[in-house]
Amino acid sequence: MDEYFITCPRGLEEVTANDIAQHIKDSPNLNKGGVSFFGSLKDLYKVNLYSRTGMYVLKKLFEFKANNYDMIYKKIYQFNWAKIINNQTTFSIRTKVKSNEFENSGYLTLKVKDAIVDKIRKSIGKRPNIDKINSDIKIFLIVKNNQIKIYIDSSGRPLFMRGYRSKIHKASLNECLAAGIILLSNWDKKSLFYDLMCGSGTIPIEAGMIAYNIPPGILRSKFAFQLWNDYDKNLWENVVRESKSKINFNNDIQIFGSDNVRKNIDLSIKSAERINLHKHINFSTKDLSDCTINKSTGVVIVNPPYGVRLGTEENLQNLYKKIGDVFKNKCSGFDTYIFTHNKNLAKFVGLRTRRKFILKNGQLDCRLLYYPIKEGSFF
Ligand SMILES: C[S@@+](CC[C@H](N)C(=O)[O-])C[C@H]1O[C@@H](n2cnc3c(N)ncnc32)[C@H](O)[C@@H]1O
Repeated sequence: MDEYFITCPRGLEEVTANDIAQHIKDSPNLNKGGVSFFGSLKDLYKVNLYSRTGMYVLKKLFEFKANNYDMIYKKIYQFNWAKIINNQTTFSIRTKVKSNEFENSGYLTLKVKDAIVDKIRKSIGKRPNIDKINSDIKIFLIVKNNQIKIYIDSSGRPLFMRGYRSKIHKASLNECLAAGIILLSNWDKKSLFYDLMCGSGTIPIEAGMIAYNIPPGILRSKFAFQLWNDYDKNLWENVVRESKSKINFNNDIQIFGSDNVRKNIDLSIKSAERINLHKHINFSTKDLSDCTINKSTGVVIVNPPYGVRLGTEENLQNLYKKIGDVFKNKCSGFDTYIFTHNKNLAKFVGLRTRRKFILKNGQLDCRLLYYPIKEGSFF
């Protein structure tokens, strides 16, 4: 059994733990910005393939306490780096520090890099290559006070890169966050699902993948663990085969995505085609206020512009008011949600929130606001 840490957007730690718990034997532990768990190689492969909200799955190599930079160099140097990095592979180091002892994260990274390079040169007589952008091996250094943890990334490109989209809308959500929002909404995967401002379709496509049990990593051809010495091709192929056998299109689940910009809907359809969901999601070009919501129950999620990448605060006030009106007048019986960064604009919705979830979208603090719409009681 090895120890792993899966990183995720802040605010989605619990969702991430619950999501992976169904695929592994151990119970995951919540941390800030991720979840740790113990598991086998099979668990590692499954988490990479199945996690809907995780970004990188990291394997812990070792940890130690240190009081100064020289001690860090010595401890890092002791590890047999030639086992995982050679002169054919490129590597990079990512550092996350919260420590008074080691405030200078640039210097810390340099020390660690020197120790790794020196040790490999000593072991194999050649210097390994560093590639800060597209390295084969990513080493993660996580420092809290004087506790240093060293991990190797098993995912490669972050897991939100599912591979179903090429071009993206300039304000599109990353796929992990979109999936996390749906999982937070507690949608039952059966009742109606609407995104009335779907942009490039990330939310409806992720909803389709959840509903039809499509593993989020199914289109990815590369994971970093495939370059490891212990890569078990048969085991990985079995994990993938098993996941494909669980995809189930037998139930017809009604998922709708609309947007008032035609080219966004074209993008959404193209992406849905790549993941084989085009026949299972109903995309249309429509203004929010022209939407017809079937008389039923289900979930409505919108991610309106919030003035950072799209629109200005003033002309968005009316849009937020319009969202409130559509929820109130057309979505009776539905659980409705707005995902936004802008607290001021959210006030223009004019409905009382039942719950707020705080989530990070990159550097931005965002909120998922929940408005259950029951007939006759909105305020
Ligand atoms: C932040 S983007 C949504 C991004 C989307 N979640 C994605 O991942 O691609 C907001 C979207 O709202 C759409 N929009 C703005 N006003 C609208 C309206 N009145 N009716 C419908 N859609 C609207 C914009 O065209 C834009 O695509």
